[in-house]
Amino acid sequence: MSNRAKRIFVLTGAGVSAESGLGTFRDRDGLWARYDPMKLATPAAFARTPREVHAFYNARRAALLRAEPNAAHQALARLEAGLADRGGELFLCTQNIDDLHERAGSRQIVHMHGELLKARCTACKTVNVWRDDLNVTDSCPACQRTGTLRPHVVWFGETPFHLKAINAALLGSDLFVAIGTSGAVYPAAGLVEDANRAGIRTCEINLEPSANAHSFDEARYGPASEAVPNWVAAV
Ligand code: OAD
Repeated sequence: MSNRAKRIFVLTGAGVSAESGLGTFRDRDGLWARYDPMKLATPAAFARTPREVHAFYNARRAALLRAEPNAAHQALARLEAGLADRGGELFLCTQNIDDLHERAGSRQIVHMHGELLKARCTACKTVNVWRDDLNVTDSCPACQRTGTLRPHVVWFGETPFHLKAINAALLGSDLFVAIGTSGAVYPAAGLVEDANRAGIRTCEINLEPSANAHSFDEARYGPASEAVPNWVAAV
């Protein structure tokens, strides 16, 4: 079934970048096992302790700049090009805030949880590329105010980006594939049920069955660096 699909919606999560050394959130050694997300990834935490929040994201930004895309990112870039060649389309929606899909060659990506290499001004709302550490003493390049910059990422309690485009693309697809995501965070975790309601085939690619495993028509289990290239070759 999946090898006839032409309009494929792929949702990726931290599992796709795990083998690039960036780690995941909810695995035993994941970020949220070592850090309390309520102290680092909420608007209230940023208002209360901005230096700690900046330090957390600065460390992640530095790790990202040292990381490289892996075979899973590269396979998804090949899939985008291959589908375009046969008149199809890949809609790549990632929960990841890294830029490894872009660096592997993917061209159209929607970052529903934002991007680590960008900073947003809470005053003038301008979004700027930001590759260095971000601090409370930094000024917005657009409006010059100081202390108004925050990581351009979505925190708990905030609405993910691009939800309209995501829903439209999902309903226009003929296959939904979730890769390397635990299915724990909504609305991303609800996309498989939206696909089911619309009669769209669904497939999960993950190290192990996710919280939503029962909702998928097909599953492929294994490390993303092997399972994703195998699936792309089959498509
Ligand atoms: P999670 O950490 O919740 O889930 C990662 C999934 O990847 C798990 O199901 C793992 O089994 C799987 N996994 C681990 N290593 C893998 C590998 N090598 N190959 C394939 N799969 C592997 O991460 P997400 O589902 O992405 O949001 O988390 C969703 C959101 O929760 C994140 O975007 C982030 C976090 O809080 C915000 O910060 C707003």
